[in-house]
Formats: sequence, structure tokens, C-alpha cells
Amino acid sequence: MTETDRQTFYITTPIYYANSDLHIGHAYSTVAADALARFNRLRGRRTFFLTGTDEHGSKNEEAARAAGVHPQEFVDRVVAGILRLWERLEISYDDFIRTTEPRHKRVVQEVFRRFHEQGDIYKSEYEGWYCTPCETFWLESRLVDGRCPDCGREVSRLKEESYFFRLSKYQDRLLRHIEENPDFIQPPSRRNEMVSFIKQGLEDLCVSRTTFAWGVPVPFDPDHVVYVWIDALTNYISAIGYASEDPERRKLFEEFWPADVHLVGKEIMRFHAIIWPILLMALGLPLPRRVFGHGWLVLDSGKMSKSKGNVIDPHVLIDKYGVDAVRYFLLREIPFGADGRYSEEALVNRTNVDLANDLGNLLYRTLTMVEKFSDATVPSPVADQDDGLLRGLLAEVVPEVERAMDDLQIPQALEAVWRLVNQGNHYIEDNAPWSLAKDPGSRARLDTVLYNLLETLRAVGALLLPFLPHTPRRIWDQLGLDPGALEAVRLDDIARWGQLRPGTRVRKGRPLFPRIDPKEALET
Ligand code: MSP
Repeated sequence: MTETDRQTFYITTPIYYANSDLHIGHAYSTVAADALARFNRLRGRRTFFLTGTDEHGSKNEEAARAAGVHPQEFVDRVVAGILRLWERLEISYDDFIRTTEPRHKRVVQEVFRRFHEQGDIYKSEYEGWYCTPCETFWLESRLVDGRCPDCGREVSRLKEESYFFRLSKYQDRLLRHIEENPDFIQPPSRRNEMVSFIKQGLEDLCVSRTTFAWGVPVPFDPDHVVYVWIDALTNYISAIGYASEDPERRKLFEEFWPADVHLVGKEIMRFHAIIWPILLMALGLPLPRRVFGHGWLVLDSGKMSKSKGNVIDPHVLIDKYGVDAVRYFLLREIPFGADGRYSEEALVNRTNVDLANDLGNLLYRTLTMVEKFSDATVPSPVADQDDGLLRGLLAEVVPEVERAMDDLQIPQALEAVWRLVNQGNHYIEDNAPWSLAKDPGSRARLDTVLYNLLETLRAVGALLLPFLPHTPRRIWDQLGLDPGALEAVRLDDIARWGQLRPGTRVRKGRPLFPRIDPKEALET
């Protein structure tokens, strides 16, 4: 089946650690997934968008201890903040899974029991090195100068009875799957990293701990709790009713599994492209279609981290610039798959150039001219006066947006929409409606030019639906269209030219994005 034929779409974000408030880097993962989910709904696919929180493990337990409260109370507070952030960013998730929920814990225990029964999990003793911040065990041979090879911090010696999962048993099958499904791990640079990692040989994975208690108990050995990754990764199936007692929920699983896209940050690629597929093979389930590893948002001062004190709070940016500008910046500025620099200056610049100038002016100038030359109503186009230019470009842009979104190339999709916006602005310059208005013989041409601009804006408004939650409604409202009708718009309708009815009153409102004075904005 090709991408175009699919009727359902299941997309997930990583589940976020509930040990502190989220920053703009986390918001990036979720906003990107939201745009992809909204796009697939626009295409008319039944879409399921899952996000949630990863609430067990020693990190969360320690954070709760530091705050002097029970871990559950602690994570409840953090989760409330995360939900507020998603609300403000208008994240359209269909479900929010918390790993402390009974519906999840039950599945984790069932999966663990099954692995044990079929001999994939065995009990042994672990002796090695442990990096607490990364929650990762390392063999002596993997350490770099005696320190954690991932973060460079100190590791501690650990000896502990643990359960292990036989990853190596599935190694060859996984390699074959990766080779036979070139789209499985994306972008290709990450696929190559994963392949060479697997080829080094997979060590058995430690899947239980006895040194902390905040986790899902191993059902047949309650001194052990399930170690984070089996607990965390299972969310992708527990949330949609895998092994549920409720037949309605099991139907959801039948409908949506395998996931179409697991969107994850590059540092957790190994868990999603190696461990998770192996767990699924052991369960006899089909593998997700794509695991996409996106890059990081980095600052001039390096990676964002609490300890460096350089985290960027998305709430502050939303207060200052509005949710549409923040989302637009994240989706447009960062090459999807690679690292991208974050700076407030770049955000201001993007907002001014793309949103205020290009898009805002196209709408404002068009409506000003419609007010002046057409009595604030949609004029009637005249067929033999039509150059078909904008209509032709729109017919090219819609499939371009579709291709880019299917390839998870979000910035390219926005670039395609802006080709239309920019062409609209050129069209005004090239046709100079103010000159046409001086010549009564050019009335038909003037009406046609204005109509074409209005239709272009109608289409641009609809094409922006996946990316910006407010702008499409405002554009449609100013064009005299019912913003409520946007909910029913489907991608295939957008390029259908001639939807605006002549005679409809337009309403020029406030400019969509007032120009921001960079000096003033960046000083506050
Ligand atoms: N709990 C695990 C994921 C389990 S998924 C089964 C976890 N949580 S996390 O909160 O640390 O990170 C969640 C996601 O946020 C990761 O995909 C990570 O890459 C992303 N980001 C964290 N900082 C980021 C940036 N500075 N930039 C972009 N993404 C960032 O890992």
C-alpha cells in the first residue's frame, strides 16, 4: 500500500519525564507531531495522536524526594503543568497516557510475564557501571576515560540481581527488517548509526531493578520493579488498548496498530529503533512503519539544560508573541531531522518577515483594495480576463505540501505554502490594481485580479490549518467565510478554484501579525 492509500494514521511523541517543567525543546517534538496529526486529519484519515508522560524511575523518585512529597503527588503536579502547556500550544492529542495509570501498568506486567514465560527474559546478576542521569548501564569496555560515553559524567559501580532480555536473539531479524524497509528508520543518517550499532552485537538488556521502588512491580517477583524502558515504550500499545479487557479498546488497537510514525529525539533513537522493535517481535506484533529521529534545538550556549540554567520557557514566548508565531517558528526554522539553533532574535525575524510582511500584508493589501475598488464585497471574476496564474500555482502547491508532509519534511511544506503567498504579493505588483481602477475599461480585469487574490488567500488559510491554530480562522473570517466551516475542509477541496461567492462582504480586521520592534522585544 502506498502512503496515499492509507486510511488511518497513528502518530506518537515520546512520553516526557515528569520530573520537571518542559522547555521549548520538548515543545518542539510535540508541536511537530501535532502538525503531522492535523495534516492527516485534513486529508480525511482517521487519526490517532498520542502523547503522555513517563512517570516512574529513579529520576522521578529522586525529584520527589528533593521536593519532600510522595512521588505520585510530585508527578501529578508536574503533569498538570504539562497539560497546561499543551493546552496553550493547542496540541490536538487524542489521548494522553500516564505510565502510572492502571490501564498502562496492567499491560506492562502482562508483557513482562509473557516474555519471562517464553524464555526471552531470564534472571541473573548484573555487575557493571551505571550512569544515574542517563539511567543507563555500561560495560567497562564502553566507558570513555572511566566516564559515561553519552554524557561524560561519573558512573558508579553496581552489583545487583536483575532480569535480562535476550536482545541478541532478535538481532539478525531486526537487521533484515531494516534492510528490507528502507523507510523504517529516518532520516538515513540515523539508520546508518543504528545499523552499525546493531552490527557491533547487542548485549542482553537489564529490564528490572531492585534499587528503587517507584515503578511497576515485576508480577512474579515483587522485589523487582520493571526498569524504565519496557515500562515507557509499552505506552505506545497500552494507550490504544493492547491486551485490554474492554473489546471497544481492543478494536482501537486493531484499527491503529502498527503506528505510522514514532517521532523521537535523536538521543532516544536506539531505544525506539532497536529495543522497541525487538520487544514487538517478541510479542509477535508488526513493527511501526517509521521511527523518525529529529534533531535538537540548541542555543549558542550549547544544549538546553536545567543545570546550565539556560532553559527557554515556552509560556514566556507564547505570552510575548502568541501561539501561532511560536509554532510557526519551530516548524519553519528547524530543518526537520537536523539540529537547529534557537534564538529569540530568529523568532522575531521569522515573525516579521514571513508572518507580518509576506502573509499579513498580502491579506491586508488585498482587503484594502477590495474595500476601495469593490465596495468591500467579493467581485465577480470574468473568464476571459483570467490569467490562471495563481490557480495554476495552487494546483502545484497542494500536492507539494502533501509530499513534504508524507516525507515528514515540515519546513518544506511551509515553504511551498509561502511560494503561493509570495506569488500573491508579486501578482499585486505586476497587476497594479490601483492603475486598473483608474481606467473604467479595465473593470473586468480588476475584478478578476482581486477575485484571484481572495481565492488564493482562501486556499492559504486552509493550507495553514495543520500548522497555525488561529490564523486560518482569522483569514477566513476577514474574507467573509464561515471560520467554523474550516473543520470540514479536506485537502482535496482546497485547490478547487472559485469557492468564494461574488457579493459576499469582506471585513478588513486588525493586521494578522503586527510588526514586532526587535529592539523593544529583545530587551524585555
Ligand atoms: N521519557 C523519555 C522518553 C520515553 S519514550 C518511550 C525521555 N523523556 S524526555 O523528557 O527526556 O525527552 C522527551 C523528548 O524531548 C525527547 O525526544 C528529546 O529528544 C526531546 N527533547 C529534549 N530536549 C530537546 C531539545 N533541546 N530539542 C529538541 N528536542 C528535545 O527521553
